[in-house]
Amino acid sequence: PGCRAEHLAEVDSTNTELMRRARSGVAGPVLLVADRQTAGRGRMGRSWQSAIGAADPASLTFSLGLPLAPKEWSGLSLAVGVALADCLDPDGRASVSLKWPNDLWVEGRKLGGILVETASSAQGGQGNARERHVVIGAGINIAKRPGDGMRTPPACVHEWQPQATAPEVLLSLAAPLLRSVLEFAEAGFGPLAERFARRDALRGHEVALSDGRTGRCEGVGPGGELRVRTGDGVQAITSAEVSVRPS
Ligand code: BTN
Repeated sequence: PGCRAEHLAEVDSTNTELMRRARSGVAGPVLLVADRQTAGRGRMGRSWQSAIGAADPASLTFSLGLPLAPKEWSGLSLAVGVALADCLDPDGRASVSLKWPNDLWVEGRKLGGILVETASSAQGGQGNARERHVVIGAGINIAKRPGDGMRTPPACVHEWQPQATAPEVLLSLAAPLLRSVLEFAEAGFGPLAERFARRDALRGHEVALSDGRTGRCEGVGPGGELRVRTGDGVQAITSAEVSVRPS
């Protein structure tokens, strides 16, 4: 299917912008990329900070908006992560891994994040009750940010592709991402589970969940749930913040 592409020099947040459009009934697949976001959002109400003042955008920030009617919603952000990681690091040499549910990592440092949101579109889904408008946002660090004071410096694409620019990276990602999202809508996360497993950053590690439980991560199940073996047996986690416990 066709997908319109749109570029803005500045916007509050590409996700917020596409959510606004979805609510006012603008449908159709669109890929919106912005050089700067003034109010970039992360998961759990956090903000997403892009590097400011760089001549080239030092991070790639974009959102894909489209109507979607998957059989199951769970696992969509994992499907997006698999598509992005496989594009950024096709042969695995850059060690891009996926930290459930939707961070891209390189050796424990954050390379990027994914924010999936859904809205009921104003025009409805032509009688299809499952159809919702989905906005899939991703922020990927392209260049190193000078001294942003974070404890663990973030990872960036320039570590293994020093010449890459944000537009080039977007060009390489856009079609595979759209394909992967449409495949997910057809077949769910199951067929992608194997590809996720190859990049799973948490499997085999002792992890701590935001509700205080701790255990050993046994990977991700066919529905995209995180499996953690605690003292009470294997738990299927569908939503939580997870951190790796130092061993
Ligand atoms: C996270 O790490 O918690 C998710 C970060 C998602 C950031 C991207 S940047 C493009 C899109 N617009 C936003 O406001 N957020 C996402």
